Amino acid sequence: MERLQKVIASSGLTSRRKAEELIMAGKVTVNGTVITELGYKVKEDSDIKVDGIKLNKEEKVYYLLNKPRGVVTTVKDDKGRKTVVDLIDEDKRIYPVGRLDYDTTGVLLLTNDGVFANNMMHPRNEIDKVYIAKINGYLTPSDIAILKKGINLDGKKTSPSKVKVKKIDKDNHTSIVEITIHEGRNHQVKKMFANLGYEVIKLHRKKVAFLDVLGLNSGEYRKLSTKEVKQLYALLNK
Ligand code: URA
Repeated sequence: MERLQKVIASSGLTSRRKAEELIMAGKVTVNGTVITELGYKVKEDSDIKVDGIKLNKEEKVYYLLNKPRGVVTTVKDDKGRKTVVDLIDEDKRIYPVGRLDYDTTGVLLLTNDGVFANNMMHPRNEIDKVYIAKINGYLTPSDIAILKKGINLDGKKTSPSKVKVKKIDKDNHTSIVEITIHEGRNHQVKKMFANLGYEVIKLHRKKVAFLDVLGLNSGEYRKLSTKEVKQLYALLNK
């Protein structure tokens, strides 16, 4: 038997002190009953929920990788290619949160926290993903308006996006465009541009929520701090 706040804290969700606050605020249930008593003892197999979300009891780890090109976003590749998981020195079974294409670079989160991963990927939580795309040609004002409003992809309209043209290269007839979306459909950014007749020559994910790769070279990674994980969880529990 373990004390409830200790079990919550060791799941990696939050600190012991914050766990105590959550318990006192009536946000924690054990086997379906709200428990506000600090020090309440729980069993190994007790069903603990915080804010209605089931607590995973294995220690959770969260990584931020600056994904390089030429690496597959999966746990294991059939063709034996290097995967994003191979880049991280961690014994726990972690997996990527969402997917970046083989040739896309930038922010990728990896974790063993399934609840977190699912929530981060779910469009209802509207987690912003900011991409920098190098495209051929120049976006016309009407194409910008279409991208912003939402575009029909595979029979379903994309949610509104933010679009900013950052640079125009007249010599090479290319542009750099920043596009912010919160869905994560397969090849979404490339398809959105392709739909309007532009090819994405390079794609980099600059941000997921407030996280960026500043300070990380291509292929480098770091653990998220407890504070960052809490901030992300706060975005999911709106
Ligand atoms: N959209 C794409 O087309 N590719 C990615 O890797 C990510 C978003």
